[in-house]
Amino acid sequence: MLSRRKKRRTAKTSGAMRLRVRLPVVKKVSLFEGLSGKELRQIAGLVNELEVPAGTRLATAGEPGGEFFAIVKGEAGVTTRSGRTAVLRAGDSFGEMSLIDGQPRSATVQANTPMRLLVLDQRDFRRLAGRTTSIALKIMQTLSRRLRAAEGDVVPE
Ligand code: CMP
Repeated sequence: MLSRRKKRRTAKTSGAMRLRVRLPVVKKVSLFEGLSGKELRQIAGLVNELEVPAGTRLATAGEPGGEFFAIVKGEAGVTTRSGRTAVLRAGDSFGEMSLIDGQPRSATVQANTPMRLLVLDQRDFRRLAGRTTSIALKIMQTLSRRLRAAEGDVVPE
């Protein structure tokens, strides 16, 4: 059995290793672009990685949502309640709407291919968005773009 001191050291080491593995992954998410090295390391310490096979439902329209997702690899299909569809790819993120307003998921999101994702729970997402102005601004830009698209405006990519 490990001594308490050794256990503490092992936990620290594996935390540092996890950070080293996750940091390059976190850097690929467009929402986190422009953040400082310190901020990126903080995020890498908060997220969990998730691998899912094609066909996995990650969010279901009308149901409560508790997580925010950022896509590292693969592709997801979005179908809103009004039938609008969109495709999300590496660097894109989703699931922020329910976490912001506490309402049920606005759309169903399903993996079109095997996917690798980063997952943040509601509390960490809110803390991060509240603390990091550039993330909050990017979320607002994404929501504005979606609103314009839903209203039929021409939206440049
Ligand atoms: P949320 O409502 O929490 O869960 C479903 C997610 O799908 C939603 O957050 C957004 O991140 C995403 N989403 C909703 N509508 C669209 C859209 N029109 N285009 C792209 N993604 C969307």
